[in-house]
Amino acid sequence: MDLFENAFQGKRVLVTGDTGFKGSWMCIWLKNLGAEVFGYALPPKTDKDNFVTTNLAKKMVHQDGDIRDLESMKAFFQKVKPEIVFHMAAQPLVLHSYQNPVETFSTNVMGTVHLFECVRETPSVRVVINVTSDKCYDNKEWVWGYRENDPMGGKDPYSASKGCAELVFSSYWHSFFQKPGSPAMASGRAGNVIGGGDWAENRIIPDVFRAVESNTTLLVRNPRATRPWQFVLEPVYGYMKLAEKLLANPQKYSGGWNFGPLDNNNYSVADLLNQVKIKVKLQTSYQEGSDNPHEAHLLKLDISKAVSILKWQPLLNFQKTVDFTINGYMAEIQGNKNLFEARVAQIEAYASHCNKDTTV
Ligand SMILES: NC(=O)c1ccc[n+]([C@@H]2O[C@H](COP(=O)([O-])OP(=O)(O)OC[C@H]3O[C@@H](n4cnc5c(N)ncnc54)[C@H](O)[C@@H]3O)[C@@H](O)[C@H]2O)c1
Repeated sequence: MDLFENAFQGKRVLVTGDTGFKGSWMCIWLKNLGAEVFGYALPPKTDKDNFVTTNLAKKMVHQDGDIRDLESMKAFFQKVKPEIVFHMAAQPLVLHSYQNPVETFSTNVMGTVHLFECVRETPSVRVVINVTSDKCYDNKEWVWGYRENDPMGGKDPYSASKGCAELVFSSYWHSFFQKPGSPAMASGRAGNVIGGGDWAENRIIPDVFRAVESNTTLLVRNPRATRPWQFVLEPVYGYMKLAEKLLANPQKYSGGWNFGPLDNNNYSVADLLNQVKIKVKLQTSYQEGSDNPHEAHLLKLDISKAVSILKWQPLLNFQKTVDFTINGYMAEIQGNKNLFEARVAQIEAYASHCNKDTTV
């Protein structure tokens, strides 16, 4: 089922960060829609990464490269001549950003500058989607959702780097891409996502499945923290819908877009673990209190713009979000030999929810 009106069939699409969690899922989806897919990123970190276990390197053209290296990235753009670019390469972890602020700012800010420099010098590019984060907003820790025209901010280095990446996007767009015939561009802001194939450190769901796999007890420090849980394909669907629309109508769809969950998907870590335990044997031990550095506690996105103008909306409710996630991890843990096909099957199952009223 093609949710994108055939927009990607035969198109040359470049994904930066294709070896990462979201990037690898997007590349599988794009391949399944008949796109010619190219990727530029650092090598995968472990053999468990989705990019490795799905054998993506054999199904697309990937180049190991650093977005902080402008000349190397430019050469790749000039070689592959992409029509559509999704920029997802980033240092995406808040805790890591406290230990490595220079790496975080140089990757997320200068890496984005380099991306737009490459776009400026590559006439084949028609559409660019810049992926940032819900953390790009100046977070006032209030109950209301942020709108696309709220001010940028960020207290910790990661959040500030994503606020800066938004300013870079806006500056390049206003300064260099206003003439007729310029590529169309937009920025996508989404929150935490979950799904099979993510084994990053210090994220609750990877920690859950590490405990399941090794049959050990999961130590839970923040059971009452609520998060807007979202399946990985929800924002990926949003970024791709945005690209489809920008190809057809650059004026109407340029700018910033939020891709968050519906309000009723804010559940606590304890709710999430209880939902996982319905299907999977998991032992937990709660030890409240944490000496971790500051992380935003209350952060909501207002998704009215994407729902009303883009006609995008989350397709899965909380139970389905957790079920899709469990199925994705268990396929791997139980030794499914063809994880690429398993991911494609999940993409098809996800897309089939498009016309069903399942989110409420
Ligand atoms: N996963 C989430 O919950 C989440 C939430 C909000 C926003 N995001 C954003 O979505 C995007 C993708 O995140 P993810 O979860 O897939 O992260 P990930 O860590 O799984 O993947 C990051 C990708 O970026 C690449 N990368 C990192 N530094 C690089 C560099 N210097 N040069 C080239 N490539 C580099 C990595 O190799 C990898 O391919 C990021 O921009 C992230 O900030 C993610």
